Amino acid sequence: VSVAVIVVAAGSGSRLGASEPKAFVALHGRSILERSLDAVFGMAELAQVIVVVPESHRSRAEAIVAPADPRLVTVTVGGTTRQGSVAAGLAQLRPGIEVVLVHDAARPLTAPALFDTVVRLVRSSGDGVVPGLAVVDTLKQVDADFVTATVDRSRLSAVATPQGFPAAALLAAYAEARDDHTDDAALFAAAGHRVRVVEGDPRGFKITTPWDLRRAEQLLGETDA
Ligand code: CTP
Ligand code: MG
Repeated sequence: VSVAVIVVAAGSGSRLGASEPKAFVALHGRSILERSLDAVFGMAELAQVIVVVPESHRSRAEAIVAPADPRLVTVTVGGTTRQGSVAAGLAQLRPGIEVVLVHDAARPLTAPALFDTVVRLVRSSGDGVVPGLAVVDTLKQVDADFVTATVDRSRLSAVATPQGFPAAALLAAYAEARDDHTDDAALFAAAGHRVRVVEGDPRGFKITTPWDLRRAEQLLGETDA
């Protein structure tokens, strides 16, 4: 295999406020992590899958991936920041991996086809690739209680995951990274690389708050009986 997907699931989910880490919370009968992994295993491309989880949930994650080929699936423990969790995942890459995708477990409804699209564009361009969606709201710059400017929305994109990168360049960028970046594309760009944007998946929204969980439950209620 020449593609790896790192699924970061080691966060606590403080804004969701559930009694378990977010990835292990049930979404329409199955955990958020299981649903995210379904999408990853639904890729056309055969990939190494690296699942990054909290120490406390390592054995639960191992049970979830048990049916998959153990040569292709690894469970590892994450760090205190998302960046640290991605770094832990990168440490598990098999030799021969050329393209790495990083995906938030918290985006369980992302379509498998988007993963394949990102892989294809990383291969053909050699650049980093992020899925982005046009911003629909009017955005204002504010200073305390006052609006100071209206932002030109046509030049903005709301980006999600999976984000894809050439493996060697991403490993080098992580090795030299210092500050805590908001996403992998920012870290990759800070190392001097180009990042492209492809049309994202509206169903790939991130479950952050209880409201997002309800929205995902409703969408699944419409489609998956
Ligand atoms: N993540 C991770 N390791 C961390 C923090 C986050 O693997 N130390 C993962 C989360 O599990 C999630 C993704 O990164 O799949 C996006 O992060 P976010 O939505 O912020 O999840 P949490 O950090 O868990 O949520 P919160 O910020 O509300 O605590
Ligand atoms: Mg977080």
